[in-house]
Amino acid sequence: MSHAASRSGILVAGSANLDFVVRAAHVPAPGETVLGREFATFPGGKGANQAVACARAGGAPTRMLLALGDDPYALPLEASLRDAGVELHIVRTRDAATGTAFICLADDAENAITVAPGANNALRAEHLPALDGVSHLLLQLETPIDAVTAYAVNARAAGVTVVLNAAPARELPTALLDALDVLIVNEGELAAITGVRGDIAAALTHLTVPCVIVTLGARGACARAQGKFHLQAAYRVSPLDTTGAGDTFCGAFTAASSLGFDLAPALAHASAAGALATTRLGAQTGVPSHAEVENLLRAQAATVNNTAALRELAAYCGLPEHR
Ligand code: RIB
Repeated sequence: MSHAASRSGILVAGSANLDFVVRAAHVPAPGETVLGREFATFPGGKGANQAVACARAGGAPTRMLLALGDDPYALPLEASLRDAGVELHIVRTRDAATGTAFICLADDAENAITVAPGANNALRAEHLPALDGVSHLLLQLETPIDAVTAYAVNARAAGVTVVLNAAPARELPTALLDALDVLIVNEGELAAITGVRGDIAAALTHLTVPCVIVTLGARGACARAQGKFHLQAAYRVSPLDTTGAGDTFCGAFTAASSLGFDLAPALAHASAAGALATTRLGAQTGVPSHAEVENLLRAQAATVNNTAALRELAAYCGLPEHR
């Protein structure tokens, strides 16, 4: 067994937020006030959600580097990560409060999110822990871009596979792009990063990252890797809350990759996990177990990637035919 093959651990470096969620009939338009209904708090933050998704996917030991305030908001975030089996490297700051997110969850399961990063902004390049036993580093963009870039560059130099979920979208430094093995984005993020709108295949081709995956919500996902496009139609579920579904996709994909899955089965696992995440309230509370994902994969194995679904997805992505 090679040295690289002997390590299968995942390190997630990123944000943790306490999510303040109000359910409402619809997300308010600019200047509009909406009277909401139920209110609840949930553990969230893109980094922490993805760490929980990696851990619940089973198999790969998961660690997380995160920054928290010295306040009560940090407690449920630490508890949720530890309950999922994530080993924590915490940077504790007294200068800023634990990150928070304010989420309006609409009855159509869509949301609008505003993040107050707080302590998440305390992450620095020097906080990256030793990469012994780490095969995959999973990053997002809710922490300072200089630190994210430094983590990616260091990990790449150490032979670690670097996965970036470029959310929320922003311009990406060339040094960061050059250090990536896998880039995962949604449709809006893909357009923002590439400047290519209305042509998903062209946008995917525009990037030099070896593997680029775009998640397309209820349509499915499309990847470009090694000069080829791969389509994954969406698993059919009844969505209640889409918060954290993309994070669950990223975590499950990275976990599957770290276990040696090829692109197609890794995409299937990630899509099934992301779909199941929409069926429950909350970001981390919505992340499914490995067994639930396997059940959905089995239940829809014969139907999910049917010819009509793949043809429709290919047409949406601007691909001439489904492959
Ligand atoms: O992706 C969903 C997450 O975005 C929420 O949990 C919220 O905290 C924000 O980071």
